[in-house]
Amino acid sequence: MANLSAVFMNITKESKIVVLTGAGISAESGIKTFRDAGGLWENYNVEDVATPQAFDSNPILVWNFYKERYKQSKTVSPNPAHYALVELEDYLKDNFFLITQNVDGLHNVAGTKRIIEMHGNLTECFCINCNAKYKLEKINLAQDIPICPKCNGYLRPNVVWFGEMPYHLNKIDTLVSQCNYFIVVGTSGIVYPAAGLLQLAKYSGAKTIGINLEKPANIYSIDYFYQGKAGEILPKLVKQWII
Ligand code: APR
Repeated sequence: MANLSAVFMNITKESKIVVLTGAGISAESGIKTFRDAGGLWENYNVEDVATPQAFDSNPILVWNFYKERYKQSKTVSPNPAHYALVELEDYLKDNFFLITQNVDGLHNVAGTKRIIEMHGNLTECFCINCNAKYKLEKINLAQDIPICPKCNGYLRPNVVWFGEMPYHLNKIDTLVSQCNYFIVVGTSGIVYPAAGLLQLAKYSGAKTIGINLEKPANIYSIDYFYQGKAGEILPKLVKQWII
């Protein structure tokens, strides 16, 4: 691995760093990514389980998919890459922000505090009638389609589906366009608008860094690319950065 100290000799506690993570950061925790060989979208059609139309036409199938993923997410733990980001946040405090596309909640379990889950969180659901939000652990998941205890409307997973607006885009835009360093970890750079944040950061004057097993689709916007496993590379980099 290249030594990053030349790139980061100016990193101080005052440097504003925004990190974007994707499924690859949780791969070493045992969660399948979407588009790698054997990934989730090899076994399921996006159109059947991850669109508002799918929920409209077959809510039981959609719920079964997310109940399964929720169950699995409770059996896994954060890996060294998640914890490295907690260390980076401890160092930078309010100058750190994490944006994740992941819904597995592992950054929260690891202890990251300044976080935006732009695609939602598997552990939550909300009512499509009254918008009330619930933790899945408070809901009777034995129901084929869980029902809102307040209004009897259908509950749906609090996950952003294809064709829906990701959460907190205004705040994300501000954070990314004002940071000094933008770091992407474990994402294929295919799904927008998340994939476009690299370009936004670069055009706004940030240095961009990528850590990924394969070269992502938007690698052209990455200034410094580190190819390999996040759980092996990120802890080493963070150690260099926070010296
Ligand atoms: N370390 C680093 N990168 C890894 C690792 C690893 N251990 N394992 C896999 N990767 C990389 C892969 O090379 C791939 O480029 O992680 C990336 C995962 O890409 P995707 O499966 O496309 O996941 P992601 O980019 O998060 O998907 C974006 O698409 O399906 C939707 O809403 C879903 O949030 C998701 C979005």
